[in-house]
Amino acid sequence: MGAQKVVLVTGASSGIGRATAAYLHERGHRVFGTSRNPDRHAAPFQLLALDVTDDAAVAAAVAAVLAEAGRIDALVNNAGVVLAGAVEDTSPAEALAVLNTNVVGVQRMARSVLPAMRGQGGGVIINVGSTAGSVGMPFQGLYCASKYALEGLTEALRLEVAPFGVSVALVAPGDTATAVVENRIRARASAGPASAYHPACAATLARYEADERAGAPAGSVAARIAAIVEGRSRGPRHAVGPLAQRILIGTRPFIPTALFQWGLARYYGL
Ligand SMILES: NC(=O)c1ccc[n+]([C@@H]2O[C@H](COP(=O)([O-])OP(=O)(O)OC[C@H]3O[C@@H](n4cnc5c(N)ncnc54)[C@H](OP(=O)(O)O)[C@@H]3O)[C@@H](O)[C@H]2O)c1
Repeated sequence: MGAQKVVLVTGASSGIGRATAAYLHERGHRVFGTSRNPDRHAAPFQLLALDVTDDAAVAAAVAAVLAEAGRIDALVNNAGVVLAGAVEDTSPAEALAVLNTNVVGVQRMARSVLPAMRGQGGGVIINVGSTAGSVGMPFQGLYCASKYALEGLTEALRLEVAPFGVSVALVAPGDTATAVVENRIRARASAGPASAYHPACAATLARYEADERAGAPAGSVAARIAAIVEGRSRGPRHAVGPLAQRILIGTRPFIPTALFQWGLARYYGL
C-alpha cells in the first residue's frame, strides 16, 4: 500500500463515496468521510458533518481534518445529486441547486483544501464525474450540464495546481449500483401527467433505473479511486464501469453527433 494517507471523502454515507471511504480505511489510510446527517449513519471511518453547498460547513470540515490529522493528502469530491426532468420542466432554482452541489460544491472543497496542500507541497484531488459528462442524456439535462462543467473545471484546475505538486483527476463512472435510484431528485413540474414530456420522461427514467440497478458495483469505482490516491494510477481522466459504456464514451469523438444521437433516441425509445 505504501505510506498512510489522510483522505477526505465527501458524500461517504452511501454508494460510491461510502465504498471508497471504507476501502481506503481497510487499506490502512486515515479516512474522514462526510454526510449532511452523520448521526444517521454508522461507519468504520470517522464521519464529519458537511453540506458542500454551505461555505461555513466546508471550512469547518476541512479545519476539523487539519486539526486532527495535521494534513490532507487526498480529497475525493464524490458528493453529488442527480436531477431528473425535461429541461423545459426544470425551474431555474432547481437548476441552480444541482449546479451548486455538483460543480460549485467541488470548487468550494478544492478552494478549502488547496492552501494546506500547497503548504505541504503536494496532494491529490479526485473529482467524481460521470458518463453524463460526455453524453447529453435525455431528461437529465441539468445533471449532464453539471457533469460536463466538472470535466472543464477539473482540466483547468489540474493545470493551475500542478506547479505546486498537487495533482487533479476525474473519475467518470458509468452505471453503478448505488442508492442513486432512490435519491434521484425529480424536477417538480416533470412529476405528473401535466407535463408535456410525461410518458417519454417516465419511460426513459425507468430505463436509467434498470441500467443503474444492473450497474457495476460501487467497489469497482472505489478501487480505481484508491489506486489514484496511492499513486498506482495516474492521468487526468479515468473512465470506469461497464465495458460497453466505456467503449461508447471512448469512441464518441469519432462518431458524428447526429448518428450518436440517433442511436441514443432508439435506445431510449424517443
Ligand atoms: N450511481 C451511478 O450510476 C453514478 C454514475 C456516474 C456518476 N455517479 C456520481 O457518483 C457520485 C456518488 O453517487 P452515488 O451513486 O454513490 O449516489 P448516492 O448513493 O445517492 O450517494 C450520494 C452521496 O452524496 C452525498 N450528498 C448529496 N448532496 C450533498 C450535499 N449537498 N453535501 C454533501 N453531501 C451530499 C450524500 O450524503 P448525505 O445525503 O448523507 O449528505 C451521499 O453520501 C455522484 O457525484 C454521482 O453523480 C454515480
